[in-house]
Amino acid sequence: MDKKNLKIEGQRIYLRSLSIEDATEEYCSWINNPDINFFLETKKTSIDDLKEYIKDQNNNPNCIFLGIFLNNNDQHIGNLKLEPINFNEKNAIIGLLIGDKNSWGKGYGTEAYEILLKYVFENLELEEILSGAYEDNKAALKVAYKIGFKNYDKINNKIIVKLKKEDFFNR
Ligand SMILES: CC(C)(COP(=O)(O)OP(=O)(O)OC[C@H]1O[C@@H](n2cnc3c(N)ncnc32)[C@H](O)[C@@H]1OP(=O)(O)O)[C@@H](O)C(=O)NCCC(=O)NCCS
Repeated sequence: MDKKNLKIEGQRIYLRSLSIEDATEEYCSWINNPDINFFLETKKTSIDDLKEYIKDQNNNPNCIFLGIFLNNNDQHIGNLKLEPINFNEKNAIIGLLIGDKNSWGKGYGTEAYEILLKYVFENLELEEILSGAYEDNKAALKVAYKIGFKNYDKINNKIIVKLKKEDFFNR
């Protein structure tokens, strides 16, 4: 797998590796917008920070970091990240951001999970994917449950959900 040139195609969106040219004002504005970063750990960034971030993620062997793009106009609407990937324990943590607010509630988050998880379970030797979402983040939890994630743990006000490979393919 060439992590820097990965492209995974879906019906309405595709996922592809990011390069420093993708560190746009638009992408920067998602992270700095309090409506969008409300449930995120990072709440402030700059284009230079994003360029560094993209480079670091692309060079990290235990990470797959992809942009989410609309098929019809190539608009960058968000990102998906599998990090850290623990190849020994065959698990990974997934994180999703639909940064373009106009694209919320249209099923793109769910479709992005679908395409990446199918790719991951078919191509990498991973058995379990975990994700954490604040209990108030109803949209993030709904996306996870629709895909087949189950509650696994609760740490303070964060719910940890887990998806087993067989549960993904036997929905
Ligand atoms: C959370 C997020 C990824 C959801 O992506 P999305 O593309 O808007 O979600 P979808 O359109 O696929 O919606 C999935 C389900 O959640 C529901 N949903 C969407 N927004 C909702 C909301 N605010 N409250 C409750 N349910 C909501 C949808 O109705 C849909 O359910 P349905 O199929 O039964 O109708 C996106 O809103 C986002 O990136 N938010 C900001 C960053 C963030 O919080 N990331 C997650 C960190 S864990």
